[in-house]
Amino acid sequence: MQAIFEAIKQTAIEIQNLIEQGDTSKSEQENSTGDTQLKLDIKSDLVIEKIFADVKCIKQIVSEEQEAIKHLHDDGKYLIAYDPLDGSSLVDVNLSVGSIFGIYENSFEGKNIVAAVYVVFGPRVELIIAQDDVKMYRLLNGSFEFIQTLKLQQKGTLNAPGSTQMCWEPYHKQLIDDMFNETYTMRYSGGMVPDLHQILIKGGGLFSYPGTTDKPKGKLRQLFEVFPFAYTFEKAQGAAVDGKQRVLDIPTEHIHDTSPAFFGSCDEINRVLKVYKNHG
Ligand code: AHG
Repeated sequence: MQAIFEAIKQTAIEIQNLIEQGDTSKSEQENSTGDTQLKLDIKSDLVIEKIFADVKCIKQIVSEEQEAIKHLHDDGKYLIAYDPLDGSSLVDVNLSVGSIFGIYENSFEGKNIVAAVYVVFGPRVELIIAQDDVKMYRLLNGSFEFIQTLKLQQKGTLNAPGSTQMCWEPYHKQLIDDMFNETYTMRYSGGMVPDLHQILIKGGGLFSYPGTTDKPKGKLRQLFEVFPFAYTFEKAQGAAVDGKQRVLDIPTEHIHDTSPAFFGSCDEINRVLKVYKNHG
């Protein structure tokens, strides 16, 4: 597993260099979800694939930017699903973006995730590894140095409500409104990596991307986005649910399946479960 973490550190340094080169133009290609890919998405994807190809313990990889699973090493133990550059359209406006990696054994399913890593490309580059606990490293003078262990409080102060409000179910709108009418502060950039990172660093709160009238199964992809962050939040002593159940218990039928997702500290997640229990 250590070889995978070292490889991801290398990808982070190379992707940071790509971001700094400043090419945010569109390519001619679409990804499997139908989004037009930026050249930066494609280049970041290639960087990761090339670096992972040399890591013998990786059996298979699958990228959010690609249609199918790729086989790497017969004797490999781990399967990695990754989003090379989540929120890449935010590079244009100079907001933070990130890479997300879910590391699985046996099959690409939430119940089989064994570690998660994400990288935040902001004013600083930070890399977070969730395994037994959640450790944050920062890129300083060309190498990643340990900074702190991230742990959520029982209850937080931040509220990050995703998706289009006109498509929210009334009970979801009520939940979000109620939180704002209490002491919660709005924090939402449109990039799940920095938005969830902020909740983890600042002790807690709620990030929601619900099922909506136009997208009943939400937008966030299980293997590349939802499961890695669900694992990270659980290891940081928080929780992640789809409204009814723990997201890591949801079966995956197709690699690009999406799921409604709520990540947060325990009090906020219990509140979501209470509201959603009687709906849907
Ligand atoms: P994309 O991968 O298409 O850039 O989407 C980013 C994701 C995620 O990072 C973010 O939380 C969410 O989309 C934002 O979506 P909304 O604008 O619908 O809230």
